[in-house]
Amino acid sequence: MEKLKIFAHQPNNKKPIIFIHGFPYDHRMWIKVMNLLQSNFYCIAYDVRGLGESPVEDGNYSIDLFADDLINIVEDMKLDKPAICGHSMGGYIALRAFEKSDSTFSNLILCDTKSEPDNDEGKAKRDAAIKKIDDEGLEKYVREFVPSCFSNNFKNEKSDELNNTISFAEQHNPVGVKGCITAMKNRTDTTPYLNRIKIPVLVLVGEEDTISTPIKMKEMAEKIKESKFKIISNAAHMAPVENPESVAEEIRKFL
Ligand code: MLT
Repeated sequence: MEKLKIFAHQPNNKKPIIFIHGFPYDHRMWIKVMNLLQSNFYCIAYDVRGLGESPVEDGNYSIDLFADDLINIVEDMKLDKPAICGHSMGGYIALRAFEKSDSTFSNLILCDTKSEPDNDEGKAKRDAAIKKIDDEGLEKYVREFVPSCFSNNFKNEKSDELNNTISFAEQHNPVGVKGCITAMKNRTDTTPYLNRIKIPVLVLVGEEDTISTPIKMKEMAEKIKESKFKIISNAAHMAPVENPESVAEEIRKFL
């Protein structure tokens, strides 16, 4: 299998953090946070299989495969117990990777994400999304879905940034995008695992997130023994893009 595309700052002797992006984005959603943290940490991001510059192949993916990809990156880069920070789909991947190999990582940051799998309604929405991409094209799907992840304030005040994010997402290969949708639809529950996590966990959520709401994320944090829960102001589901300063500051304090 072809290797994934990795984007890392200059290696230094600082603590490594691996950032995993959400859907339908790529490593670029973490760039501002990484730049804010680069003097304190060795920041690494990558494009999840099927998105950005990573290989698409047959589009037959699972969250399990994505978790194996993450563990392989840690081994290939010979990283010593990195922290991992996953946004939304990246959080699904991080939780599954922890379940598979918790001794690989030192700390976990879960941002705008959840441990539960899709319910029937959620699965039906995934099928409708794939149908939309097939019938009307990726651009149409992305132009409808991406704005729903951002707060109205951000959409009004930073429309250039929103349009940039949309145009990055439009450039993905539709096969890879649909593969990610199917992987998320088929993901299984990691909730039973939460109370077995033994390392420190930071749970971050945008105050206006309607996809992984503050109430649901607080419930998730309460199931984890050593967790901190923080609400990010002026942000919805895309807290690392909408308010990178606060997200970086919380990560810096936590680590
Ligand atoms: C994401 O931001 O990664 C997605 O919205 C997550 C999802 O659709 O479940």
